[in-house]
Amino acid sequence: MYNSKIIGLGKYLPENVVTNDDLSKMMDTNDEWIQERTGIKERRWIPEDSNDTSAVMGAKAAKIAIERSGLTKDDIDFIVFATLSPDYYFPGCGVQIQDLLGLQNVGALDVRNQCSGFIYAISVADQFIKTGMYKNVLVIGAEYHSNGLDKTTRGRGVTVIFGDGAGACVLSREEDTTKGILSTHLHSEGKYADKLIVASPSIKHWVPEIIESNEEDISYYPYMDGTFVFKHAVVRFSEVIMEGLMKNNLTKEDIDMLIPHQANLRIAQFIQKKFKLRDDQIFNNIMKYGNTTAASVIIALTEAWEEGKIKSGQHVVLAAFGSGFTWGSVIIKW
Ligand code: ACO
Repeated sequence: MYNSKIIGLGKYLPENVVTNDDLSKMMDTNDEWIQERTGIKERRWIPEDSNDTSAVMGAKAAKIAIERSGLTKDDIDFIVFATLSPDYYFPGCGVQIQDLLGLQNVGALDVRNQCSGFIYAISVADQFIKTGMYKNVLVIGAEYHSNGLDKTTRGRGVTVIFGDGAGACVLSREEDTTKGILSTHLHSEGKYADKLIVASPSIKHWVPEIIESNEEDISYYPYMDGTFVFKHAVVRFSEVIMEGLMKNNLTKEDIDMLIPHQANLRIAQFIQKKFKLRDDQIFNNIMKYGNTTAASVIIALTEAWEEGKIKSGQHVVLAAFGSGFTWGSVIIKW
């Protein structure tokens, strides 16, 4: 048995900044409402004249992660790609990464677990490494939300939250099983699938039906029962962090850095208070990027690492909750 450890991190955010004031020119919203309810000041949205997509941004982040790992692209044994906004209905973004980065004909797996996508993706990669099947796995989270959002007042409850971006890491074999990823914890509760959903296009509700339907059919835009999701998020975040700590005989005092999914600053602050964490024990960047769903945890982890906030020997906890519902945590000895 082996452990796995992160040996390279990378992120890519489109340069185009969209402020809350910019949004208030598109819909009936305002900076005060958005900041007060979510903590978000601005987000990045891919501009119309850009070639960026989830796969393209993922490839850019992955290139940086591979460079920083000290490996070459030929050392990568497998790709795991998490997104809810793939370039195509099929094939998935993973195979595009193989092509865009010119990797060998390695396997590529797409993960569809929305805000928990990166947690699920890194857990899968960890299992492949722990069993010895692969040595170096590229794990990517990327989202191109902005092209699929309702930018009118009708969509304001959801649209103001989401941003575009990508993050990636190289997960590699670690012989010392007291280091690296100690454990991962994954959960779901499908009875709440319709609380946070893009219901179409789907095989149940295919494109011609949408075209023919009346104007009221907006099921191709994300729907979220925000208050309901919020209430479940705070409970599940706490549970799954505790589950990870207990599995490793750790307590909340052992957390050196918590990287929560960047869904809402108020959720992160609730967790911070509950676990009695100082400001330097939790990392948030939702203020700058909004909710980048499957990319959010890996973008935040990369940024925390770039800012020197994660050091060797520390306990780093990753946690997420989102559509599905799905939720999960990762306990790392860095
Ligand atoms: N600007 C101004 N007013 C707005 C906006 C806006 N952008 N959006 C909604 N409002 C209005 C509503 O119409 C409502 O008005 P009313 O009282 O007259 O009806 C009022 O503000 C309150 O709306 P709520 O939806 O009740 O606001 P809430 O306080 O719940 O905040 C939010 C909404 C920010 C979405 C919050 O519920 C939340 O963060 N939920 C959790 C999100 C989350 O964790 N998602 C999981 C990850 S995402 C994924 O998995 C894809």
